[in-house]
Amino acid sequence: MTNLLHIDSSIRYEGSVSREVTRAFADAWRAANPEGEYVYRDLSANPVPHVDGTPHPELIAEVKAADTIVIGAPMYNFAIPSTLKAWIDQFTVKDVFVGEDGVAPLGAKRVVVVTARGGSYKAGTPREGFDHQEPYLRSVLSLTGLDRNLEFVHAEMTMANVNPQLAQFREIAVESLADAHRVVKELAVA
Ligand SMILES: Cc1cc2nc3c(=O)[nH]c(=O)nc-3n(C[C@H](O)[C@H](O)[C@H](O)COP(=O)(O)O)c2cc1C
Repeated sequence: MTNLLHIDSSIRYEGSVSREVTRAFADAWRAANPEGEYVYRDLSANPVPHVDGTPHPELIAEVKAADTIVIGAPMYNFAIPSTLKAWIDQFTVKDVFVGEDGVAPLGAKRVVVVTARGGSYKAGTPREGFDHQEPYLRSVLSLTGLDRNLEFVHAEMTMANVNPQLAQFREIAVESLADAHRVVKELAVA
């Protein structure tokens, strides 16, 4: 049976853009896979422990069981929330690294990362080089082969809606969110 693992990590509930977009992905996936299994993990409400050498096999099993993983990743200080980092550290262990033969013990899966950023980090913007989310996630997910079918969906300029100094960028925020919704709906049924 096909299985979706849905991860959120925003500290916000009201107005969280990453939660809104991962929810849209999950809703579309569940509509397309009514028999599919759906597992939800909220890393803000229920953080996993920081890595301390104690194995948490249930977290690895949960990732292994998933065919599709959607991850909500708000940008915090140019990177990912520490709760998301803690979860990644729990399952990214030597036992499940891609072997020299190229085999990924976690199995083949599709991963969709939805980021929400207050600003914009697109090519040509002043903060282009400050995006430590996508490059980090691509690198760390490659250890376990989770980069093999990996898509990023970025909802940018979310602060334009709340910070009057960024009001000139509101249209970009609206377009970026609309694009994110369109793309996740396509990915969820692809
Ligand atoms: C602790 C914290 C740090 C943040 N750091 C950044 C940052 O470095 N760059 C940025 O563009 N936005 C930053 N933001 C804004 C968030 O990325 C933005 O509000 C985003 O929409 C959060 O995701 P959410 O809407 O799912 O909560 C930060 C927000 C918080 C709460």
